[in-house]
Amino acid sequence: MNKTLLIFWPEGGNVEQATQLIAKAYNEIDIMPVTKVTGETLANYDRFIVGGSTLGAETWEGTHSDSPWNAFLSTVKNHDFSSKKVALFGLGDQVLWPANFVDGLGTLYSSFLAAKAQLIGKWPTEGYDFTDSLAVEGDHFVGLALDLDQQDELTEERIQAWVKQIKKEF
Ligand SMILES: Cc1cc2nc3c(=O)[nH]c(=O)nc-3n(C[C@H](O)[C@H](O)[C@H](O)COP(=O)(O)O)c2cc1C
Repeated sequence: MNKTLLIFWPEGGNVEQATQLIAKAYNEIDIMPVTKVTGETLANYDRFIVGGSTLGAETWEGTHSDSPWNAFLSTVKNHDFSSKKVALFGLGDQVLWPANFVDGLGTLYSSFLAAKAQLIGKWPTEGYDFTDSLAVEGDHFVGLALDLDQQDELTEERIQAWVKQIKKEF
């Protein structure tokens, strides 16, 4: 079993656009919105790419119980990822939210780490301009940070390079 599943949310916006670009660069991959993912789904794969946008802290912190990430992260919590690898990506806007740039990426990272996943796909912070982020460790983001609002011209080349990198790390 060596299949890869790309899980994303929300649908119909920048995240879905980035998802399509990642899938195209990756080639052989299954794609699923986070709302369709169950524990059984997770059991069927051993490599995952997971990504979303940061839409304010409430998206990730459970104060909005209707966020589909909440249900997904509970499913992740109850799943043993110890033999599995996970690469993360996160979308944000570094000009409008410089102090919380791609915070959601950091939340995803903590959740998968707690579930014992092996996290791959760290990405340098060089070339971004922000003041703070929950998704940074040292001089790297914990996954691929994308900014389709302010640096869309870099999206395609960032994705190409990152997909190449994670294919090696998987
Ligand atoms: C209400 C709202 C809150 C946002 N909060 C943040 C934030 O805290 N940090 C950040 O980096 N980007 C933030 N953004 C920017 C989005 O993450 C960015 O525009 C992203 O590309 C949206 O992707 P989507 O359309 O697929 O959701 C916010 C956007 C909106 C509309």
